[in-house]
Amino acid sequence: MALPETIFKLLKPRRKASGSELTREAMANIPRHVAVIMDGNGRWARKRGLPRYSGHYAGAENLREFCKWCIEFGISYTTVFAFSTENWQRPQQEVDSLMKLFLEFFARYEEELAAEGVRLRFCGETGELPQSVQDTMQRAEASSLQRNKLQLIIAFNYGGRREIVKATRDLLASCKAGELKPEELTEEHLSARLYLPDVPDPDLIIRPSVELRLSNFLLWHSAYIELWFAKVLWPDFNRHHFTAAINDYASRQRRYGGLSKEERG
Ligand code: IPE
Ligand code: IPE
Ligand code: MG
Repeated sequence: MALPETIFKLLKPRRKASGSELTREAMANIPRHVAVIMDGNGRWARKRGLPRYSGHYAGAENLREFCKWCIEFGISYTTVFAFSTENWQRPQQEVDSLMKLFLEFFARYEEELAAEGVRLRFCGETGELPQSVQDTMQRAEASSLQRNKLQLIIAFNYGGRREIVKATRDLLASCKAGELKPEELTEEHLSARLYLPDVPDPDLIIRPSVELRLSNFLLWHSAYIELWFAKVLWPDFNRHHFTAAINDYASRQRRYGGLSKEERG
């Protein structure tokens, strides 16, 4: 097994690159919540002749960096896709290494996350995960409640369809209990039954790795979300790419089906 240290060395030169800066427009229009599909770890490893799990380690390392950029830019929430409800289809060895990495990430970086003021939250079918992962999640959530620089939401065993099915099940139970009438149901009732109803909807989804799809991420929330795709694998996604995404986001007009400010007069 290649030691994570080997991977950290590979990442070092990349970390020094600071890249371009935020535009004034971007500074005035920072998204409150940015979501990321952390994809391309396997290809990153393959390109270097390393086993796939090395790519996952490199991806986790990049997540640390990413949190720092979010804090620097004044982003309050980030949701990162780390393991999907479909990722169980991967070979058992890879699934096991992802669970192990999850535990190691917190063992290694808990103090650093605390020092940076990162609050941890999780979304997904967490009850189906190994007990050790569930225990780590509960500890990380409980010990970070008071931190307020950034909320890092890790989507782990997350699927957008599963989230909607869960919310629908809760709605049906409320109807059955007589708390709600089916004809009175609104979007807000469903939203309130998603995994983290208090978290504002993400403004932007970033997907590195060259794929142009959502892969079952944040299906309900993505109705009017802005999308940004990067032709770079997640472990290579750096501050320069992130700055470009935020600058691009700030230059867009979000109309939600209405008219732009100029056209409204
Ligand atoms: C994303 O990287 C991480 C997970 C899905 C767990 P991949 O493992 O999907 O990397 P590629 O897409 O095969 O390169
Ligand atoms: C999406 O990546 C899930 C995560 C990054 C955790 P996948 O690699 O699973 O998505 P597909 O299979 O390319 O659609
Ligand atoms: Mg992938």
